[in-house]
Amino acid sequence: PRSLLPLPHSVLLEMQKELLDHKGIGISVLEMSYRSSDFAKIINNAETLVWELLAVRDNYEVIFVQGGGSSQFGAVPLKLIGAWSAKAAEAAKKFGTINIVHSKFGNYTKIPDPSTWNLNSDASSVYYCANETVHNVEFDFTPDVKRAVLVCDMPSNFLSKTVDVSKFGVIFAGVQKNVGSAGVTMVIVSNDQLGFALRECPSVLEYKVQAGNSSLYNRPPCFSIYIMGWVLEWIKNSGGTVAMEKLSSIKSKMIYEIIDNSQRFYSCPVEPQNRSKMNIPFCIGNVKGDDALEKRFLDKALELNMLSMKGQRSVGGIQASLYNAVKIEHMHQL
Ligand SMILES: Cc1ncc(COP(=O)(O)O)c(C=O)c1O
Repeated sequence: PRSLLPLPHSVLLEMQKELLDHKGIGISVLEMSYRSSDFAKIINNAETLVWELLAVRDNYEVIFVQGGGSSQFGAVPLKLIGAWSAKAAEAAKKFGTINIVHSKFGNYTKIPDPSTWNLNSDASSVYYCANETVHNVEFDFTPDVKRAVLVCDMPSNFLSKTVDVSKFGVIFAGVQKNVGSAGVTMVIVSNDQLGFALRECPSVLEYKVQAGNSSLYNRPPCFSIYIMGWVLEWIKNSGGTVAMEKLSSIKSKMIYEIIDNSQRFYSCPVEPQNRSKMNIPFCIGNVKGDDALEKRFLDKALELNMLSMKGQRSVGGIQASLYNAVKIEHMHQL
């Protein structure tokens, strides 16, 4: 993987080919009005592909907005666990009462057993982060939050595996990691939750307003939506989420096995059952990481065109990301 956030090469080539003249209309996508019929085709195509890949349509809306996962932290009242969760809690505090479902747990190296969670039975919603990109902990189950609305922060593993959308009130995902480039945030919201917004909520962040205007209430991130359409198409043609899930299991297993069979030369602090299939943190030399060895690893990785592998020291000095466009041959190289 040359980049931490690779796009499928075929998608980059198509974009290059089409950049000056989109489908023979004589102008670039970058020059299109977001209200034009040509852009309508692009955004409708992206939406259709999302529903095809998630195998769901009834009772949900999908919207494409700006502002990233961080703006969604403020757009919904949230309750939480984890490090991105700590950031979400800060944002949510401004709007309502928050209840931390589990206090900070060691160094965020595992998901505490649900039986120890302090779920408030009066909570309107429960927020969780499906895959933590800081500590690299991934949920391998969907939390049962009883009557509360389940809100999921899913930017880093969205469409990397199958998901039962019907369990969620809201799923939001900035799409750069698995589904496209920076700039567009996808929000999937159940019809029951469409009105789910506080009075203080600005209109652009209101799901009802955005869904009611098919994501065209204001200027959406057009070029990012266009790229996303290509990547969604690529996922579909590669076998959909079932294939992505299988691939990420194989890819992550290849690396975790090397770590686990290395007599602690490599070490990964995350508990095996909660290890992320998207982001693998590891230290080299000893459990805290040997600076000289890790520097040597990063230098050698760079020689092989593997960029941005420096991780968070609190978790592991090196971080390998295995997003959808990363191939098995890249794992052999790694
Ligand atoms: C799990 C998770 N949530 C939220 C965010 C914040 O997203 P954004 O930068 O789009 O606001 C990130 C960013 O990497 C993330 O990994």
